[in-house]
Amino acid sequence: MMTEASAPGKIILFGEHAVVYGRPAIAIPVSHIRAQAQVHDSQGNQVTVMLPDVERRYQARCDLSDWPGTLPPLLAAVQAVQRHLRLPTLPALAIHVVSAIPIASGLGSGAATAAALIRALLRHLGDPADDATVSNLTYEVEKLHHGSPSGIDNSVVAYERPVYFLRRQPHPRLETVAVAQPLHFLIGNTGVRSATREVVGDVRQQWQARPARFEALFNQCGRIARAAHLALAQGQTERLGRLMHDNHHVLQALTVSSPDLDRLVMAASTAGALGAKLSGGGRGGNMIALTTETNAPTVAAALYHAGATAVLSTTLAPGSV
Ligand code: PMV
Repeated sequence: MMTEASAPGKIILFGEHAVVYGRPAIAIPVSHIRAQAQVHDSQGNQVTVMLPDVERRYQARCDLSDWPGTLPPLLAAVQAVQRHLRLPTLPALAIHVVSAIPIASGLGSGAATAAALIRALLRHLGDPADDATVSNLTYEVEKLHHGSPSGIDNSVVAYERPVYFLRRQPHPRLETVAVAQPLHFLIGNTGVRSATREVVGDVRQQWQARPARFEALFNQCGRIARAAHLALAQGQTERLGRLMHDNHHVLQALTVSSPDLDRLVMAASTAGALGAKLSGGGRGGNMIALTTETNAPTVAAALYHAGATAVLSTTLAPGSV
């Protein structure tokens, strides 16, 4: 028997970093770039996870008891399912995971590969794999490798819809994002890989050293995300663009931008984008620009001219996700 499932990439529109400290953030799925997992029954007493894209292969005993040290993320995803289903051991399995999502660039590749595997494996073992379960188990895996993630990545890839997200104990609060007008985004990659965990750790150190300043900046991010939630629902596209610029400036003050990101943001604005900002952990990875349908090609060309190594386009349409 074979069972498969997939999960989309994602991009953060507003509120990265501040979301770790309980302020709201907005993220959307990028459904045309995806991770896919296939779970096959196998022979013997081993679970094998194969990642042909990166030529990796992990093999462990079916009860995962023989792995030395910390499990790599996708074996941790297998273990999260095993624990959730309270199985002392799994059957022999061969699991293939492929992904078209660029890694370490803020597009959620880690969360999406884990979510695709978790959904496929839950279904393979007879569980309905509802979105909340997939999201929670993906969060368990993210925690192992990202320190203290806010939970926004696993939520947006598991539910595959735009989310207005608030980190709360014991469970995050997810609100629907109403979209009144189609929105055309370009995602420009700086080509610089950046480890979100390190940037988040550095922001935490600065927050500890200067709590009043960083709390004030996080509050600004929160205000911007709340205003953006409203602007999306009311179809105020130009206001949304201005809010992206405002958010980028606060992210600069949080020290998570970089000359490459600033150059792409500036190039997009000069070419007529309604707004642009870095997206995700920062100091590399991607930026996002809001364009009109007409000027998207001009802005994309400007991004390439300014050094973007890849430009993806994605549209958020009312009721499309
Ligand atoms: O780098 P990304 O896209 O995975 O986003 C990280 C977002 C942060 O707010 C910086 C961290 C988090 O856990 O929310």
